[in-house]
Amino acid sequence: MHSDASRQYDPFARLLHWLIVLLVVAQYVVAWTMPGIHHGTQPVGLIAWHLELGTAIVAVMVVRTVWRIVRREPDAAEGSPFTRQVAHLTHGLLYALLIVQPLMGWANASSRGWSLTLFGAVPLPALAPTGSRLGHVLGDLHGVLAWAMLGLIGLHVAAALFHHFVLRDGVLRRMA
Ligand code: HEM
Ligand code: HEM
Repeated sequence: MHSDASRQYDPFARLLHWLIVLLVVAQYVVAWTMPGIHHGTQPVGLIAWHLELGTAIVAVMVVRTVWRIVRREPDAAEGSPFTRQVAHLTHGLLYALLIVQPLMGWANASSRGWSLTLFGAVPLPALAPTGSRLGHVLGDLHGVLAWAMLGLIGLHVAAALFHHFVLRDGVLRRMA
């Protein structure tokens, strides 16, 4: 038998999970309400918010990934080997997308000649040369992958709610 505590993510992992949820929800709202970005657009207002939130997401995800490697995962949740594998794959893809997709936006911002900071204070390096074709392409991919990530998030949240309300097992409590 496992104790309940050994099946729960540790408090810092839970804090990071819900912090990322907050930041990512805010980021989609900002991304969909900010003005269109064209040649010569300045990174002010909601666009500046998009960049600040985005680089904060990258920073928190780096901490979260290190924490995940150091602390590992709690003992397995309920479920068949198949559903556990699907959950693992979804979580792995979410980690990867939450780092790679923002980095693509960052590269696009660099190619527009925008200089970025972390929390408005720490200057960040450019990820692509100003005016580069690569930065342009990565910007397009950034928009496409935002939808792929949204699809995965939808699947993930649906699974969490299904566990809680239909299967009525303890999976949601692992992260709550
Ligand atoms: C999880 C994090 C992020 C999400 C979910 C996200 C989402 C989006 C979405 C949906 C768009 C398309 C908006 C539209 O055209 O209607 C967009 C555009 C953009 N994002 Fe992000 N973004 C994230 C992180 C970042 C970061 C870290 C940066 C830069 C530091 C960034 C820079 C940009 C730029 C420059 C565009 C305009 C790209 C273009 O149209 O060429 N984003 N983002
Ligand atoms: C932006 C939205 C979200 C993202 C990006 C996200 C991402 C993730 C990731 C990457 C993991 C794996 C954690 C790890 O192994 O370190 C995870 C686990 C988990 N998430 Fe989320 N999540 C989101 C929203 C939610 C919501 C809204 C709920 C609840 C309704 C939820 C419930 C859970 C639960 C219960 C686990 C643990 C699953 C298990 O132990 O097998 N998540 N989430």
